[in-house]
Amino acid sequence: MKDKQVLLTGATGGLGVGVTPIVLAQGAFVTIPYRKPEDVENLKQIIPPSDLNRVKFVSADLKSESSVKNIVDSMVKVDVLIHLVGGFSMGKTDEYSFEDWKNDFDLNLNTTFLTCKYCLIKMLQNNYGRIVTIGSRGAVEPVGGLAAYCASKAGVVALTKAIADETKGTNITANSVLPSVIDTEANRKAMGTEDSDKWVKPKSLAEAICFLADETAQDIRGAAIPVYGNI
Ligand SMILES: NC(=O)c1ccc[n+]([C@@H]2O[C@H](COP(=O)([O-])OP(=O)(O)OC[C@H]3O[C@@H](n4cnc5c(N)ncnc54)[C@H](OP(=O)(O)O)[C@@H]3O)[C@@H](O)[C@H]2O)c1
Repeated sequence: MKDKQVLLTGATGGLGVGVTPIVLAQGAFVTIPYRKPEDVENLKQIIPPSDLNRVKFVSADLKSESSVKNIVDSMVKVDVLIHLVGGFSMGKTDEYSFEDWKNDFDLNLNTTFLTCKYCLIKMLQNNYGRIVTIGSRGAVEPVGGLAAYCASKAGVVALTKAIADETKGTNITANSVLPSVIDTEANRKAMGTEDSDKWVKPKSLAEAICFLADETAQDIRGAAIPVYGNI
C-alpha cells in the first residue's frame, strides 16, 4: 500500500488501534474519520511519529450521507477503503425494539453502503480500488440474541459480494473479513481474560485486511474470509 490513499474508518476502536499502525507501516497516506477529539489524541500515542505526517484526521459521522460525501470529496483519490466501523447490541427478537434494530442496520450496513458508494465513485474514475469490509462470524453462522447484528452483518457481506460482481472487468476489488471474538480491551473488560488467548488478535486481522488491500490481490473478489482464531 506504499503511497496509496486509504480511507480507514473505525480507526479509534478496539480493532482500529491494532490495524492503524500496520496500515501506516506499509507507507500509505491514511484519512481517518473520528467523532471524539480525545480518541484522536489516544490514537496518536500509538502511531510512530515518523508515520504521523501521513495521517489526516477528519471529524465525521458516517451515518450521515453528507458527512461521508464530504470526507471522500476531501481526498484527492481513494485507492483503498478499509471500513471497520460497526458494533453490536444483544437482545432476543421478541424483546428487541425496532429503534435498536434500525440503529444496528444504520451502524453496520448503512455506513458500509455510504462509504462504499462514495469511494466507488472515485475508484471508478481511476480504475483502481481495494475495498475491505468487516463482517462477522455471525453473518454466516447467526446465533440467538444477536439477530439484528447477524442480519446487518450478513447484509455487509452481501453488499460486498454485489460490489465485487459490479466491478468485474476493472482493477477494483471488494472483499470482507469475518472476525469471531477479537482480543480488544472492551472484550477483555466485558468477558474477562480467561479465554482471550483463543480470540483473534487485531494484528492477525490487520494482516488479512492488508493482504486483501494490496495491489497484488487484484484477482480476489467477493471473498468473505473467516478469521476466527481458536474458537
Ligand atoms: N470486537 C469484536 O469481538 C468483533 C467481532 C466480530 C466483528 N467485529 C466487527 O469489527 C469492527 C470493529 O469492532 P471494534 O471492536 O473495534 O468496535 P469498536 O471498538 O466499537 O469501534 C468502532 C469504531 O467505529 C467508530 N464509529 C462508530 N459509529 C460511528 C459513526 N457513526 N461515525 C464514525 N465512526 C463511528 C467508533 O468511534 P466512536 O468511538 O466515535 O463511536 C470506533 O472507532 C466492527 O465492524 C465490529 O462489528 C468485532
